[in-house]
Amino acid sequence: MSGSNEPVSRREFLRTAVTAAGACYAAAVGYPVFRYLTSPAEQAMSLAAVTEVTLQDAHTLAAGSVLMFKFGSRPAMLIHHKDDTWVALDAVCTHLGCTVQYQPQRDVIHCNCHGGEYDARTGKNISGPPPRPLRPYVVKVVDNGVLVSRA
Ligand code: FES
Repeated sequence: MSGSNEPVSRREFLRTAVTAAGACYAAAVGYPVFRYLTSPAEQAMSLAAVTEVTLQDAHTLAAGSVLMFKFGSRPAMLIHHKDDTWVALDAVCTHLGCTVQYQPQRDVIHCNCHGGEYDARTGKNISGPPPRPLRPYVVKVVDNGVLVSRA
């Protein structure tokens, strides 16, 4: 006879505990994989909506400096190199999506998450785990700022 006041057996308790632990483990492993697999779709949607960004007064950015900005919803960076060239790149690491940083003293773009590095002039992945270069943008310096547009 089975009733609602019957104590839970050790076997039932262990089965429930193992099932709950398995569900937690699956969620912990599955969510990052889901985010990794969906990020290209999000990337495409984010970029499709915006074709150009005007950065007011960015033309005054000192040589050897970087300006972080948003291209749509994505982080991006405008670098004014010491030789007076300008480069704008997507700032989302192509490995697992961390935001990258420009290191002016080394003239490289570095990802703190896993040590990936990119060429600060081309966005080419030069060391570490990133599988692809950073997406470049077209830069046009104008009288009152800098226009950044999709390549
Ligand atoms: S997320 Fe940038 S190196 Fe891994």
